[in-house]
Amino acid sequence: MKSLVTGGAGFIGSHLVDALVAAGDQVVVLDDLSTGRRENLAQVADVIEFIEGDVADRATVDRAVAGCDRVFHQAAVASVPATVERPVATHHVNLGGALMVLEAARAAGVKRVVFASSAAVYGDTGAEACVETAAPNPQSPYAVEKLAAETYMRVWADLYGLPTASLRYFNVFGPRQDPSSPYSGVISIFVDRLRRGLVPTIFGDGEQTRDFVFVADVVRANLAAGALDAPAGLVCNIGRGETTTLKQLYGHLAALLGGPPAPHFGPARAGDIRDSKARVDRAFEALGWRAQVPVADGLRALVEAVQGT
Ligand SMILES: NC(=O)c1ccc[n+]([C@@H]2O[C@H](COP(=O)([O-])OP(=O)(O)OC[C@H]3O[C@@H](n4cnc5c(N)ncnc54)[C@H](O)[C@@H]3O)[C@@H](O)[C@H]2O)c1
Repeated sequence: MKSLVTGGAGFIGSHLVDALVAAGDQVVVLDDLSTGRRENLAQVADVIEFIEGDVADRATVDRAVAGCDRVFHQAAVASVPATVERPVATHHVNLGGALMVLEAARAAGVKRVVFASSAAVYGDTGAEACVETAAPNPQSPYAVEKLAAETYMRVWADLYGLPTASLRYFNVFGPRQDPSSPYSGVISIFVDRLRRGLVPTIFGDGEQTRDFVFVADVVRANLAAGALDAPAGLVCNIGRGETTTLKQLYGHLAALLGGPPAPHFGPARAGDIRDSKARVDRAFEALGWRAQVPVADGLRALVEAVQGT
């Protein structure tokens, strides 16, 4: 099997590349290295084909997709603030790139496209768990771009019989997540500050919740969705279906890394969603997928990985 991973030098994409290589796939990575890093692919550099280029450029995507059986489309400007600051540019990458991948995949006879969507498409659902049948309510250009790209995925399945699957990731965490990005996962920022002997700041009262899912589980979800018998046009949540408060998260990390018992608290950030939790029934029914790594185990693995570097 030959697979293209767009955004394969990034946090999630590079773990997916490792897993595909381990499974015996021939792997092509297309990445412009805007936030991704070649070091993330160091251990597989000799066995993959790496194409540095733009996922919104048709000729580049055509070259990358040639001969591939499936495409895992992870490339995006994965930052809500960046999409607020530069919506035209991020629309070009996040939506234009998805369309380009679909068109190139269709022309190349690819058998399945798996798309990295986001829980951001739901907007603020209050304390309710997000369920795929709920009406989406995007509240940022990022969420609009993800939702529109998902819609293209479904329509390309219907129009052209190209099987697609959109996975709505919740808060993914794990090694290689870059703490320096302005919208990096809170976990990578807390780990980075604690390791440098600094006290992290929680914006708000710390009782806000997130559904954190370990990157290895997200990789497994992609592999399941990349299997050729998953339903075409599928949209499904990829989360644990349980929440952790930011205070609890801080407690876990402070215990692992030796931080002070309490973080700093700052003013709540405008537009921050209070609670986020996935309903995960569809992922189990459609993909046989369920998250396996408890948050505490994932945090321990992350801390071990960063301490080993
Ligand atoms: N990390 C999360 O919690 C999370 C949650 C929901 C959805 N997602 C989605 O998952 C995917 C992977 O996110 P990540 O957290 O690994 O972020 P990341 O920034 O580490 O990975 C994105 C990759 O895409 C590449 N890229 C960006 N623009 C490109 C372009 N024009 N052409 C080619 N490559 C380009 C980057 O260089 C990077 O390697 C993204 O689509 C993101 O929107 C992530």
